Amino acid sequence: MLKHLILASTAFISSATASLYGESQLNHTCILVPDYLSCSSQANPATVDSCCVETYGGLLLQTQYWDVNTGFEVEGQLLPAYSWTIHGMWPDFCNGSYTQYCDLDRQYDPNPSPNTTNGLPNGTAVVPYTGPNIGTFLAPLGRFDLLAYMNMYWISQGSPNADFWGHEFSKHATCFSTFDVPCYGPEYREHEDVVNFFETVVKYYMRLPTWGWLGAHGIYPSNTTTYTLGAMEAALQHEYGTVPYLGCGGPSYNTTTAGANSTDSGGTVLSEVWYYFHTYGRPQDGQSVPVNQTGSSSCAKAPGAISYPERANGSVAYY
Ligand SMILES: *[C@@H]1O[C@H](CO)[C@@H](O)[C@H](O)[C@H]1NC(C)=O
Ligand SMILES: *[C@@H]1O[C@H](CO)[C@@H](O)[C@H](O)[C@H]1NC(C)=O
Ligand SMILES: *[C@@H]1O[C@H](CO)[C@@H](O)[C@H](O)[C@H]1NC(C)=O
Ligand SMILES: *[C@@H]1O[C@H](CO)[C@@H](O)[C@H](O)[C@H]1NC(C)=O
Ligand SMILES: *[C@@H]1O[C@H](CO)[C@@H](O)[C@H](O)[C@H]1NC(C)=O
Ligand SMILES: *[C@@H]1O[C@H](CO)[C@@H](O)[C@H](O)[C@H]1NC(C)=O
Ligand SMILES: *[C@@H]1O[C@H](CO)[C@@H](O)[C@H](O)[C@H]1NC(C)=O
Ligand SMILES: *[C@@H]1O[C@H](CO)[C@@H](O)[C@H](O)[C@H]1NC(C)=O
Ligand SMILES: *[C@@H]1O[C@H](CO)[C@@H](O)[C@H](O)[C@H]1NC(C)=O
Repeated sequence: MLKHLILASTAFISSATASLYGESQLNHTCILVPDYLSCSSQANPATVDSCCVETYGGLLLQTQYWDVNTGFEVEGQLLPAYSWTIHGMWPDFCNGSYTQYCDLDRQYDPNPSPNTTNGLPNGTAVVPYTGPNIGTFLAPLGRFDLLAYMNMYWISQGSPNADFWGHEFSKHATCFSTFDVPCYGPEYREHEDVVNFFETVVKYYMRLPTWGWLGAHGIYPSNTTTYTLGAMEAALQHEYGTVPYLGCGGPSYNTTTAGANSTDSGGTVLSEVWYYFHTYGRPQDGQSVPVNQTGSSSCAKAPGAISYPERANGSVAYY
């Protein structure tokens, strides 16, 4: 199954309208307006064009996975040898809370998780999508190169890649003001917003080469060596500018032999990184400013507590 969002965010609010602010389909020529910084006092939807400045989820996260296998190797769904893989790009509110499934007219997720807009029984149901997978939306717009890239670097564990892309789009992309359909104007072509989101995620991902950044500090996947959280955070802070969130799974440190008697219950197997940033103007334009994580790592903090495992033989593609 798709992995669940676990930390980062502290509150849920639900909404399910066709447009976050009911913008008009006209007049979104963003080069004509100032590129205000998201989460600044100027990023106010009452006074700026919310298609041109992110005014809804102004705290952005580009999230990546470190998986050791996909479960779909027989389908050719492999992991790129020298890269982490794309999870998505999320629009948290400036205070770190977030919404999800904000536009049920753009629901392309076959396995909604959670299955209501607020994750509670009283939320609006998010109905599983049964149409052609979201990957098929790229061909009519001629974006075969983007699709090929996504199949190399945006890899799902436990489901076909396109199901995962549909999940990420419908759960998260629909909660950006700047990817709202009216922002694309009167000449909007069906699914242009989807393609624009995918290429924007890829734009940020390509700037955030986690594998190489850790490697530059001597931190490579290993099934024989372990690492210390502080060293990994320091390495990424050195390269990125601020401290991203590192997520770990695996056994809690104090349930392992090495961590017996410890009060450190953090995870011991590195699996995720979330880079936080604000943007000037549209996120699409890539003018980002790194910011620190809002919470703290789920990984164990004890020296040498973290495994950054090698991928499984047979799960890796070399390109
Ligand atoms: C679009 O811009 C024109 C020219 O400034 C203006 O007359 C019109 O009201 C605007 N339309 C909308 C929907 O904002
Ligand atoms: C966070 O910000 C959102 C959007 O402004 C707001 O709706 C929500 O109540 C805030 N949550 C908290 C916990 O302050
Ligand atoms: C939904 O249920 C939760 C928890 O039971 C409650 O706090 C919240 O106010 C409810 N929301 C609505 C819109 O009824
Ligand atoms: C959501 O999932 C829960 C748990 O599986 C189930 O009980 C509930 O009926 C589902 N709700 C909707 C709206 O599908
Ligand atoms: C945990 O405490 C027990 C009992 O005091 C001790 O025998 C053991 O060596 C300790 N383990 C570690 C890893 O410190
Ligand atoms: C691990 O640490 C947590 C938090 O300090 C504690 O609640 C839990 O009981 C500990 N577990 C073990 C097996 O020591
Ligand atoms: C980010 O966090 C680090 C470590 O906690 C701290 O040294 C640094 O000042 C913070 N940077 C910003 C911009 O807040
Ligand atoms: C390394 O360890 C992981 C996790 O235990 C395992 O899945 C993988 O197959 C191992 N890789 C190699 C190359 O032995
Ligand atoms: C993976 O392949 C390497 C090199 O051929 C080998 O040393 C290692 O034992 C293999 N690991 C597993 C889990 O099969």
